[in-house]
Amino acid sequence: MSNEKFVLGIDLGTSSIKVMALGRYGTMISESEKVTDLTNLEGYSEEDPNEWYQKTIKAIKALESKDGLCLKNVDAISFSGQMHGLVLLDKNGKLLCNSILWNDTRSFREVEEINERIDSNDLLDITGNKMVEAYLLPKLLWIKKNEPKIWNEIGRILLPKDYLKYKIVGLINTDFSDATGTGLFDIKSRKWSLRLLNEFDIKKEWMPSITESVDVIGHVNEEFYKKTGIPQSAIVTSGAADNAAGAIGAGVYKKNNLLTSIGTSGVVLKPEKSLIKGDGILQLEYSAIKNRYYSMGVTLSAGHSFDWLRKTFFSKKSFNEMTKMANHSKLGAQGMMFAPYISGERTPHFDAKIRGSFTNISDINNENDFVRATMEGITFSLKEIVEIYSEYDDIDEIISIGGGSHSRVWLQIQADIFGVSVKTIKGEQGPSLGAALLAAVAINWFGTIENAIDQTVEYNAEQYMPEEGNSRKYQEIYQDYKKIYQCTKELERI
Ligand code: XUL
Repeated sequence: MSNEKFVLGIDLGTSSIKVMALGRYGTMISESEKVTDLTNLEGYSEEDPNEWYQKTIKAIKALESKDGLCLKNVDAISFSGQMHGLVLLDKNGKLLCNSILWNDTRSFREVEEINERIDSNDLLDITGNKMVEAYLLPKLLWIKKNEPKIWNEIGRILLPKDYLKYKIVGLINTDFSDATGTGLFDIKSRKWSLRLLNEFDIKKEWMPSITESVDVIGHVNEEFYKKTGIPQSAIVTSGAADNAAGAIGAGVYKKNNLLTSIGTSGVVLKPEKSLIKGDGILQLEYSAIKNRYYSMGVTLSAGHSFDWLRKTFFSKKSFNEMTKMANHSKLGAQGMMFAPYISGERTPHFDAKIRGSFTNISDINNENDFVRATMEGITFSLKEIVEIYSEYDDIDEIISIGGGSHSRVWLQIQADIFGVSVKTIKGEQGPSLGAALLAAVAINWFGTIENAIDQTVEYNAEQYMPEEGNSRKYQEIYQDYKKIYQCTKELERI
């Protein structure tokens, strides 16, 4: 067993918890993953924060059993976490209920109510964003209306990764990248907005303190030491939202970088130099780097749609086997199209009530076409976001991360549909690497986050280039894809 010191990056995703151990010179020394349980009912999406904590401990202990790591050599820990989820504690710090997640759209009436009470221009001015069901504010109003007993017991409010920090350090704290995604944060004063808190009866003392992603918030507590063997001298930093940490892990911090991520959600993200006021179609967020920002658009069910297809019709097949099936279909899935709105859609439609569809099915279609149409439909939904960026920027390259970057077929589909070359990262770890780099910077290993990125993130030499003929055909199909939303909107049932 070596005595080499290392840091941990913990990524609390929607479908799993990943832990990465990173050595002194940015070498990945071990990683592990534990799958989490998601409860999905129509429009509802919840997880148990206590399960997050237990599985985090298991994932950390797995580094020891799998690769013989000595956990007493952990010097620092940081976090990446699924954004926007609501975690409620009572006045004694006990969990009040499951966490309501980012892709839960039950609070669409509360979004309407907020928009009636606060002028949309004021909302954009204060938070930089338009209100969406994902954010904490509409979720809190839903609790107030539907679960008054829980509302009356609220003592503190947290975001998902911050619950882990609370269990590990004992502090109620978030970082700026997660604070921006709450609908309650004033982006100019960098504080919780008193106007919004007062308007909606949310007590300021319920809200977490806010620090930079690399700021040290404390040390590992005794309970966590006893459960994992990580010494109490190990420091813990504030961490970042998964998209902010994913951008760090993908080396995306320069102005002309564009990132696509196909995880449970689909994201197109671009670093921004300033907090330019937009029209709210793209989200505006603080990045994990101090005084830096990013904009992004989100497809609610990207990998989630693909996984739904797998579980529902191809449960014996793995992700890789399924993506290979797409090769046995043809470009355009023999006429079939898929719109991935299985739990509503965010960018660009902002419609919690829309639902997904396969269209244009004919008797020539086979199971391979269903798989290909799903991959293409998810990519078209990201194209709708890429298109917003193309309106004001020349995009000559895209960096792809997440499950969608682990399949050669899907990477080529991305290049052809976006009409731009796509590159990937060596040993892609995305958000967990981003989190580990935040921990490393906190103990002064690389000086700055930018240096940490430059010294650790490497791209694969092979790039996926758009094939002109394919791009032309996809451009035509894309025009039809865009009509699906308008046509199926009439069928909304909620
Ligand atoms: C971002 C968003 C998702 C989650 C997924 O606004 O809702 O990308 O962060 O973890």
